[in-house]
Formats: sequence, structure tokens, C-alpha cells
Amino acid sequence: MKHLISAGDLSRDEALLILDTAEELARVSGRSIKKLPTLRGRTVVNLFFEDSTRTRISFEAAAKRLSADVINFSAKGSSVSKGESLKDTALTLEAMGADAVVIRHGASGAPHRLANWVRGSVLNAGDGTHEHPTQALLDAFSMRQRLGRLEGLKVAIVGDILHSRVARSNVLLLSTLGAEVTLVAPPTLLPVSVERWPCQVSYDLDAVLPKADVVMMLRVQLERMNAAYFPSAREYSRRYGLDRDRFAKLHDDAIVMHPGPMNRGMEISAEVADSPRSTIVEQVGNGVTVRMAALYLLIGGENQ
Ligand code: CP
Repeated sequence: MKHLISAGDLSRDEALLILDTAEELARVSGRSIKKLPTLRGRTVVNLFFEDSTRTRISFEAAAKRLSADVINFSAKGSSVSKGESLKDTALTLEAMGADAVVIRHGASGAPHRLANWVRGSVLNAGDGTHEHPTQALLDAFSMRQRLGRLEGLKVAIVGDILHSRVARSNVLLLSTLGAEVTLVAPPTLLPVSVERWPCQVSYDLDAVLPKADVVMMLRVQLERMNAAYFPSAREYSRRYGLDRDRFAKLHDDAIVMHPGPMNRGMEISAEVADSPRSTIVEQVGNGVTVRMAALYLLIGGENQ
């Protein structure tokens, strides 16, 4: 494995190796001294062309905990605002000797392009509406941690599937790992290609909830919407929001997830988001160990 661009590129064994390595590394994160010397002398560049809180900070924390040198690049305040292209930005970073480039970009396919221009490993931290593979890995890690397995788990992914790179990466990864995914959304918020995805589709959240082991709520991505996809926020919330009454339909061991950032009160109520069966805060912590595992496996070898 040279790059981590799509969750669909991972075989079952590769995906499990990342999760198992993350589990080992989680033990280190519990110690008072969290740092490991594993990536000493390696350089990790975080290249963020789109806003991020969780992914940017956790990649930085992951690289630092493995003792890598970290260069943080944000498009705001850089020469990108003067019109510099992705390729020229990439070549500038290449000249600084990056062993790994973590990229978030608004254009689907940008990490794939970047992989042609740099010698180091490319890790996709979210590209447009395409993929967010480390999010799917940390989600799978969080499910396995809470429920003890992935094989046969019934996972409902609910909301704005059309604009969600998290949904696509989760469907690809979870199907590889033997979970059964159902996407739940209004027809307007499903991509046309969804029938080719390895999952079920439903428009009826109330029918899906009682059977689900995991309910993953997605943010309604208003910033990517250039048309009206539903009548009003209130109507969306009434049909597809996870509130107290819907939460009561879940079986006792089911968990609630959200990749963040949340629109509290729209796709998820504050009460549900903060309940003990919500994994939302754990997901953020698990993001650091899963990203440590990905960096370690990609650039931690002897021959780098
Ligand atoms: N889940 C996620 O990707 O969050 P950020 O946009 O804050 O990185």
C-alpha cells in the first residue's frame, strides 16, 4: 500500500491491519508519555484547501505522536490565493522532501492527481463529494470498539448522501468488512449512481431504525447545495432527523454516530448527540490512533 486515496482500494486484510495497528497504538495513547520514535526523520505535510477541525488536528497529532516533522499548509494565506495551481503547490512541497502528503481539497479526484506529482505517499483527508477513507476507518474502528464486531452489523447511514464523501467511503469499507449498510435519505439527496453501490437504499427512516445496530447521521451540507433539495429545514428534520422519539425505536445496544461537524437540532437532536449511546466524541479520539496507524503503515517501513 503506497497511498490511501479510496476506501475501495483496501482489501479486507489491509483494512483489518489498519484497525488492528490502531488498536495497538491506542494502548500507547493511554500512557502519560504518548510519543513513539517510529517516524523520526520523516516529514508529513498537511495540505488543507478546505476547512477542517477534526481531520486536520488529528492528522497533525498523529504525525507528532509518531515523532515526524510536520508542515501545516492551509490554502488561506498561501500563494493559492494568488492563483498558484495544485501542481505547483505540490512541487513546492516536494522540494521540501515530504514523505507523506495529507490532502483535503474541494475537487473530487485531487488526491489522485497529486499522487502523480509527488514521490511520497498521499493520504486523502476528504476530496469534494468523493471520499474520506480515514473517516470510514475511524468509524469502523469505533463500531468494532463498542460492539465487538463488524461482520454482520446492520448499519444505517442517514441524510445527505448526495454530498457525502463519508457515506461513500463507509459503504465501500463496511461492505469489504462484512457489514450490511442501508442508506436512508430523501430521493433528492441520493446520487444517481447509488444503485451500483454495495448497499441497500430506503426512504423510510422509521422502518429502518428498529433493525439497526448502528445509526450514522450525516450533516446536511448546505454549503454544497445550489438548489432546494427539501422543502424546509423543519420538514427535513421531521422526516429524517434523529430526535428522542426516533431514538426510542432503536434496540438497547444500538449506537449513534456522526462524523461531525453537526447541525444540532436539524439531523440530530442535542439530547441524542450527547447520550451515552452516542460515539461522537470517541470517534474524534479514535481518529488520532487510526491516522497514526495509516501513517505508520504507509511511511514507517525501513526502505522509505
Ligand atoms: N469529520 C470531518 O471530516 O470533520 P472535519 O471537517 O472537521 O475535519
